[in-house]
Amino acid sequence: MSMTQPILVTGGAGYIGSHTCVALIEAGYAPLVLDNLCNSSVESLARVQRITGVRPGWIEGDIRDAALLEQVLAEHRPRAVIHFAGLKAVGESVQEPLAYYDNNVGGTTILLQAMQRAGLRNIIFSSSATVYGDPATVPIREDFPRSATNPYGRSKLIIEDILDDLQRADPAWRIARLRYFNPVGAHPSGLIGEDPRGIPNNLMPYITQVAVGRLPALQVFGGDWPTPDGTGVRDYIHVMDLAEGHVAALAYLLEAGAGMFTVNLGTGQGVSVLQMVQAFERTSGHQVPYRVVERRAGDIAACWADPARARRLLHWQARRDLDTICADAWRWQQANPRGYA
Ligand code: NAD
Ligand code: UFG
Repeated sequence: MSMTQPILVTGGAGYIGSHTCVALIEAGYAPLVLDNLCNSSVESLARVQRITGVRPGWIEGDIRDAALLEQVLAEHRPRAVIHFAGLKAVGESVQEPLAYYDNNVGGTTILLQAMQRAGLRNIIFSSSATVYGDPATVPIREDFPRSATNPYGRSKLIIEDILDDLQRADPAWRIARLRYFNPVGAHPSGLIGEDPRGIPNNLMPYITQVAVGRLPALQVFGGDWPTPDGTGVRDYIHVMDLAEGHVAALAYLLEAGAGMFTVNLGTGQGVSVLQMVQAFERTSGHQVPYRVVERRAGDIAACWADPARARRLLHWQARRDLDTICADAWRWQQANPRGYA
């Protein structure tokens, strides 16, 4: 591998991207981040440098800027692209569908066109377990049927299909479609973590903000789901496990023959909302007051991965447990009660 050729990381200043930069650097790759900072702070990359001793390459810009992409690809000749850039708030996507199709679908198309023109055909795409809709059974295998219930999820479905079409049209493309389950936790240093704008939509940042005193109480969305304790069950994966999954996918992509592969990145374990609250209280020593309220529109009862394909293909599996997830999330929240601000 030529060490002068970086890995272009779109959306690399964000939550998963910044942790993946750490994992890439630790594996000997040179990340080059392109991010428009619409949902992140460049401080995350200064923190990556504090953790690793290496500052990722940095370009402030938008993936929808074709001229910028052309220039970046010509100047830096990346070996592959890890494509995180996009919008991800389900509720917002229902209110502003065009912003989601423009950023996610349009942005990805422009990126793929620029890559094609530059002769760069290696890409890892951030898909989501949301493409499984409401699964008939769990655990979820990659060959399960896909569906979408909101514009965000539909943008992921469409991009998955675009990548499929592209690889069919030109088999020289090497494409990884990684379907993340629920990324949570933070780097163990407490220096980087999830920094949502405004009131969090997701369970884990909501819990940590209640525990740190920023929010009064957790609302548990539904106590009458067909699950063991009546609350929703998800597959929570430590963000550093997820980051290492990208490094494993990159190695496989670059070493194996050309082609496309699709893998779940999850733990294979289902955890309920109340189990998460209990684990967090145990590891943090802080109470998380909660009350059970109505179900949230669009939610499903249970979702967890069959992670066997990732283990077989990538020789990767999640290894950090729920207590580690909670301890790391709490360390980040305590050290950065206002995020990067
Ligand atoms: P994030 O918002 O922290 O990171 C996304 C980054 O992309 C941000 O830094 C943002 O500024 C940047 N960005 C957005 N639009 C851009 C554009 N047009 N040009 C350049 N940069 C742009 O989110 P994340 O949680 O790190 O998610 C990363 C990817 O993983 C997203 O594609 C998301 O849909 C996907 N994903 C996330 C989850 C999750 O629960 N966090 C689950 C499944 C899939
Ligand atoms: N929950 C609460 N209270 C909250 C927030 C969440 O009870 O304040 C519950 C939800 O009802 C659900 C569980 O906690 O049972 C997890 O909810 P999250 O919002 O953290 O995560 P979701 O599984 O709903 O959604 C996540 C991503 C989506 C993605 C989806 C499927 O946020 O982008 O996984 O991959 F589409």
